[in-house]
Amino acid sequence: MAITEQTRINRQRLAQLSAREQAAYRERTTITRALLERAKESMPMGVASSFQVYDPYPTFMKESRGSRIWDVDGHEYIDFDMAFGVLAAGHSHPEVVEAVRDRVGRGTIFTFPSEDTAPVAEEIRRRFHVDMVRFGNSGTEVTMDALRIARGYTGRDTILKFEGGYHGHHDDVLISILPAAEDMGPPDAPNSVPASAGIPHSQLTDTVVAPYNNAGALEAVLNRHRGEIAAIIVEPIQYNIGVVPPLPGFLERVRELATEHGAVLIFDEVKTGVVVAYGGGTERFGVQPDIVCLAKSIGGGLPVAALGGSAAVMGVIEGGAHPHASTFGSSDRVAHQGTYNGNPVSMAAALATLTRVLTPDVYPELERLGDRLTAGCQAVLDEFHLPGYAINIGAKGAVLFSPKRITNYRDFIGLDDELWSAFYFFLANRGILLPPGPDEQWTLSVAHTEADVDQHIAVFRDFARELAG
Ligand SMILES: Cc1ncc(COP(=O)(O)O)c(C=O)c1O
Repeated sequence: MAITEQTRINRQRLAQLSAREQAAYRERTTITRALLERAKESMPMGVASSFQVYDPYPTFMKESRGSRIWDVDGHEYIDFDMAFGVLAAGHSHPEVVEAVRDRVGRGTIFTFPSEDTAPVAEEIRRRFHVDMVRFGNSGTEVTMDALRIARGYTGRDTILKFEGGYHGHHDDVLISILPAAEDMGPPDAPNSVPASAGIPHSQLTDTVVAPYNNAGALEAVLNRHRGEIAAIIVEPIQYNIGVVPPLPGFLERVRELATEHGAVLIFDEVKTGVVVAYGGGTERFGVQPDIVCLAKSIGGGLPVAALGGSAAVMGVIEGGAHPHASTFGSSDRVAHQGTYNGNPVSMAAALATLTRVLTPDVYPELERLGDRLTAGCQAVLDEFHLPGYAINIGAKGAVLFSPKRITNYRDFIGLDDELWSAFYFFLANRGILLPPGPDEQWTLSVAHTEADVDQHIAVFRDFARELAG
């Protein structure tokens, strides 16, 4: 698919359009604004997670069902955000609701083992060809666990991540997420740049960074750190910078290099897993990692995360010498725990989602709808000569207002934020809700219909026509 023939945007018209749409947004969200003011009194920025903030202010939501979501001011949207990709099953899928309702009345948590965990673990084994599975409650937890397992397994300290990749909010991976141009260093050998205040300086040496989709540069980084790298952590499709698929052969080469250098290969499938295919990126690209990290859509809307891996690597949780000794007594064993891990409510939701909602037969339809949305948006871009392109891989896609194809973080820096912002509010004001950020992507669910997709394309076309003048 060629990038549309470029034209220069009329910046003045864009600025006017953007101002008008933001004014309309302010006017129709008075209850949101009141709630935000109240929330600011007791919470930094008025939100529970800094991801919920965007300019000029986030919309407060009240209710959702299927592909629809309603804000506190009573506006209905077709939801293409789907909670940052949590909801491939749709909002409150009846199977998930029923399973949770049934479970809640019979005990929500024991912290003793229960019969509910193994069936979910077996389903993850089947999909991702892993031997052993453990559970957590968020993507952050399981990428943190995976890295500790890799360190325990290899006896090494350093981890390698790719520039622009997001793997959660723990110190190891809050490095070089969206680094400033003046800090990021050479493209082939990026600096390790902290993505937050409060990251220990020692982390800058413990986490090394390579450019995504550049196997030669990765090899050079690994050679410079020969014998030091415990793990390579990578999203099979880089999502924090739009939708960036691996170039042909890239993931295969990452696999080879991890093996050659004795590093554990971790696929962060928090977003891709059970969404871009039944078996996530692992199935889609036919490359087997040592550990796969899952969260978001596996829980059907409840907080569930999992990590699965080969028996050898996951075996460090059991350790060798004293398998029944106390959890913290041994340095030959990797600690993995959590009060809420595998709680019955989360497991009921996950089992319903994985075995009764996201079944193998739904993936061709998700693919078809995703392709339809991309083709429709691309046709709009082409018709009105807007600088950008539409892209999807299965259910996840985006319109990226970039003059060139994005293959890694350095390409992403050229994104037109002003154009994206006008686009976002124009669509939101007309009932099409996208993820609130130019770096995010839509997620389609089993609840979305062809009519939902066509409505999205039609509103995008209205935007493009008005911008073209
Ligand atoms: C690829 C990836 N990994 C990890 C995470 C962290 O997951 P959580 O927000 O559940 O901690 C995210 C969250 O967006 C993600 O996109």
